[in-house]
Amino acid sequence: MPSYAYFKKQFVPLAEAKISVMTHAIHYGTAIFEGIRGNWNSEHKQTYLFRLKEHYERLLDGCQIMRITLPYTVDELCRITVELAQKCGFEEDIYVRPLAYKSAEALGVRVHDISDDFVAFIIPWGRYIDVDKARCCISSWQRPGDNTAPPQVKIMGNYASNALAKSDAIESGFDEAIMLSPDGHVSEGSGENLFLVIDGKLVTPATYNNILPGITRDSVIKLAQNELGLETIERSIDRGELYTAEECFLTGTAAHVTPVAEIDHRQIGNGEIGEITEKLQNIYADVIRGNNPKYLDWCMPVYKK
Ligand SMILES: Cc1ncc(COP(=O)(O)O)c(C=O)c1O
Repeated sequence: MPSYAYFKKQFVPLAEAKISVMTHAIHYGTAIFEGIRGNWNSEHKQTYLFRLKEHYERLLDGCQIMRITLPYTVDELCRITVELAQKCGFEEDIYVRPLAYKSAEALGVRVHDISDDFVAFIIPWGRYIDVDKARCCISSWQRPGDNTAPPQVKIMGNYASNALAKSDAIESGFDEAIMLSPDGHVSEGSGENLFLVIDGKLVTPATYNNILPGITRDSVIKLAQNELGLETIERSIDRGELYTAEECFLTGTAAHVTPVAEIDHRQIGNGEIGEITEKLQNIYADVIRGNNPKYLDWCMPVYKK
């Protein structure tokens, strides 16, 4: 099935959305991207875009930092995305990739006086970490410090270190890399946030641990509180605490809630999917497909009924 892109203010076949080799962003990583899931519900015959507004709020925060000016509000970006998804018409899980980028065909290391543009496209996309229980390792590649490049938004250039971390992990036989902050605390996966269960409580690195504050992370914190009465403690986590936690899981738009069975060759808990992890995994899976009426505010339907 052909896909479409929103490119230079028009909907065009994806194959026609092309940029020049001189585009500033591909030389210097001067772009902000997002990753948004559309989750197909075969009973409802509907695709639900999950927390669309929050993704575009984070994109515009990134634009503010990178001095990218877009001629769109959050609501307009949401409308463009819904229309794009309607045009694509997929009846399966999809992934939306919006990109706000320095589009001028110009060289020179800077962010000022460079024109900007916005593109979004959609592809069908199933599982990201394609195992039921992930085996992880600590990466020697760190998350960027606050004064390297702000880690809290999705700056394209920041992902070079995450890509190095992910490939090292995969080629060493693991499923995902866990990156530390510059001060040596646990930060997050190469494309996911991390949660532990310690003494029956949920613990996750805080925003000051150089994480990307994930929308899935926020959803899981709220679902744990509302549905399981479990509070989440946001604090610095020492590396050693990873190895002795009762449970561990990763969260992200692409990875959903992925249980972690092993870190650096140490089994986590009994090496099976933890009890709290499994509950949250099931609650989250229901919520994102529009099956829980309490959370329909988070689910933007694509198709008109
Ligand atoms: C580095 C990084 N951390 C965490 C996340 C999880 O964020 P979210 O749940 O908003 O997808 C992502 C994915 O967007 C990411 O790229």
